[in-house]
Amino acid sequence: MPASITSPAAPVSTNDIPVGTNHQLERIHLEVTNVCNFKCEFCPDAIMERKRGHMDTGLLKKALDEIANYNLAKIVAFHLMGEPLIYPHIFEAIEMAIARRLNLHLTTNGSTFHIRPEHIEKLVASGIPKVTISLQTPDPDTFIIRGAPPKLKPEQYFDGIARYVQANLASEHSNTRVHLKFLDTTPHPFLVPHKAMHVVEGKEQMQKQLHEWCDRLLSSLPADHPDRPSPAELSRRLASHRPGRWQVIDLTPKLALETFPLDSWGNVESTTVIPASFGYCNGTTDQAGILYDGTVVPCCKDYDGKIPLGNLNEYSLREILYQQKPACSLREGFDKFQVTNPVCKRCMGADTKQKSLLRQVGSIAYFKLYNPIMKKLNPGWGEV
Ligand SMILES: C[S@@+](CC[C@H](N)C(=O)[O-])C[C@H]1O[C@@H](n2cnc3c(N)ncnc32)[C@H](O)[C@@H]1O
Ligand code: SF4
Ligand code: SF4
Repeated sequence: MPASITSPAAPVSTNDIPVGTNHQLERIHLEVTNVCNFKCEFCPDAIMERKRGHMDTGLLKKALDEIANYNLAKIVAFHLMGEPLIYPHIFEAIEMAIARRLNLHLTTNGSTFHIRPEHIEKLVASGIPKVTISLQTPDPDTFIIRGAPPKLKPEQYFDGIARYVQANLASEHSNTRVHLKFLDTTPHPFLVPHKAMHVVEGKEQMQKQLHEWCDRLLSSLPADHPDRPSPAELSRRLASHRPGRWQVIDLTPKLALETFPLDSWGNVESTTVIPASFGYCNGTTDQAGILYDGTVVPCCKDYDGKIPLGNLNEYSLREILYQQKPACSLREGFDKFQVTNPVCKRCMGADTKQKSLLRQVGSIAYFKLYNPIMKKLNPGWGEV
């Protein structure tokens, strides 16, 4: 691999922008590819209108250099849409991010652990801080909705994931924290689901899945391993799960189960939406995305690049986020609790007047009260 790709470059010369005056984002979604080998029914992959493609490594380097040199984000995630482990240069990309000391998070559907078993060892050895595996559909019946390639049978998929998790637990050199994610389709009064869907819902179903996966993943860890909690302690932790919420249950210091409610992707599939006119969103203030072609977007919800803020091929990220009009106006609007962009109006609305109003008021309460309190109580709160 050429040294120029992996070694950090000298700081980008942007003399017109004073260093240190920029706000640090909570996270940047750096979409290395929007190609995916799954067609999950809960994901807008199938309705995405963008051309499919991979990020050019020169552009990736430019993005990572700027994020690292100017400390632009606490977390860098290698997805917005797409499956990052399908990106042909993924292990170079991970190396590039780690060489720049970025806090890299990889969210993957986990399918390549079976399809390309060499990924297991490479990922364990990569030094990546966090990997989230979107198991989502934890049994053969629910796996049907993933639109997986026919050659990948559910047991092969589950086995590949278990083998990666166990290899990571067994490695003395790896400090990677792995989250195994379960989709929770318990009806929620505040969220508008993407579409009616039943995966795992209610306490009983989720408890069954959490227990089965906990047993499966920890089966290779010796009973007297210092990281292994007692059976009673594990049962206590799993029983603490409450359905319909984003929740993280630690099994060991390197492994957690995570439940996540079904989301609407900004009401993308809803036939009726009462649009929002006020509210707050952290797009461009605490998060942003860079699509594989360099288009900068305000958030992870903008899967089709409908709110283009600028292109990284032409400008620096700091110019796009902090100097140019599209991002500044969007942010200024949210700071005054105004929702101006039509995509945002739809995203923050809901199917009934009452629910829409509740979501608008709720967005302010969530971002301005609940979120800061939760972050103080739990430093990992809201991480991707
Ligand atoms: C769009 S995917 C991209 C990364 C990778 N392909 C994966 O599946 O992990 C990012 C995350 O969004 C989750 N996701 C997709 N649609 C969702 C929905 N409607 N509700 C909640 N999570 C969803 C995925 O399962 C995954 O954890
Ligand atoms: S959720 Fe991930 S794996 Fe599923 S279709 Fe979307 S991008 Fe692909
Ligand atoms: S309101 Fe706008 S910026 Fe915020 S998540 Fe929705 S689409 Fe993104």
